[in-house]
Amino acid sequence: MVFPNEIMLNTKKVLYSKMFKEGYDVVLGCDDVLEFIKTMPRNMATLVVTSPPYNIGKPYEEVVAFEEYMKWQERIITGCVELLKPNGSICWEVGNYIEDMEVFPLDIYFYRIFKKLGFKLRNRIIWYFGHGLHAKQRFSGRYEVILWFTKGNEYVFNLDDVRIPQKYPGKRAYKGPNNGKPTAHRLGKNPSDIWEILATDWEKTLWNIPNVKASHPEKTVHSCQFPIELVERLVLALTNERDTVFDPFMGVGSSIIAALLHNRIGIGVDKERIYSDIAYHRIMQALKGNLRKRALGKPIYEPKATEKVARIPPEWKT
Ligand SMILES: C[S@@+](CC[C@H](N)C(=O)[O-])C[C@H]1O[C@@H](n2cnc3c(N)ncnc32)[C@H](O)[C@@H]1O
Repeated sequence: MVFPNEIMLNTKKVLYSKMFKEGYDVVLGCDDVLEFIKTMPRNMATLVVTSPPYNIGKPYEEVVAFEEYMKWQERIITGCVELLKPNGSICWEVGNYIEDMEVFPLDIYFYRIFKKLGFKLRNRIIWYFGHGLHAKQRFSGRYEVILWFTKGNEYVFNLDDVRIPQKYPGKRAYKGPNNGKPTAHRLGKNPSDIWEILATDWEKTLWNIPNVKASHPEKTVHSCQFPIELVERLVLALTNERDTVFDPFMGVGSSIIAALLHNRIGIGVDKERIYSDIAYHRIMQALKGNLRKRALGKPIYEPKATEKVARIPPEWKT
């Protein structure tokens, strides 16, 4: 594909380019994030949401000294601050950095950077996933953290748009002025700060089990992509329609798709051509209505006791 590539599909204007340009519903950049940010106007985004490289030797990163990595991240976060509107939010999704088998929880280090820049923490969301690599010399890691900060005290928070079904909607008050009335909120409950949303690693674990047919429908060649569902909840809660969402490390474009699906403007950049090309193709699929994705709020798959994978292997019984 030759840059810049512009297309209009289903009333949405998409630009795939090296630099940002105004007037589009989606802008995908393929460049170094710091170069791309220079081309963006100040004060334009309501939400910056991303998962940065963790400096752990993934195919898309070169491992550097931890201090150097943190300084680089600080420069990018400082660049993002200028892009954010005064009522804007920033969500930095991180796991652990590991050195000589020692665990460094990245959210602790990032918290200091955001505080220094004047941000206010609103939630430290635990993203829990039930499957992944098995550790041998410590407990297996099963969560990552989303730090949600706001620039100021006035910010968008649409709780009603992300409520989840109540466990006991039929419960009623048995005394007081509301005696006999339902106690639950009729639109559902607050999803809380612990989110169980499938990670793509789940799929890798289960692929080897022949009679589990379910596989994550969103998987691409990217080793660390976001489930779109995870970003959808942030987009719905922290922005309004036609607001702008920016992902400075967009990978295969999961955040941009979440923005687009909910009528927000999506801007993203990734330095790797292979990922930004996949992002472009996924966006085209989303616009045509044929992108494979897990539905927002779909229950996590639990095998039935009768399924082979849920049964104790016969050889263990002897
Ligand atoms: C953890 S992944 C993000 C995956 C993304 N959330 C998704 O759903 O696909 C981090 C991404 O940052 C990109 N990246 C690393 N260094 C970069 C840089 N200097 N500029 C732009 N992108 C970069 C990598 O290519 C990688 O795709």
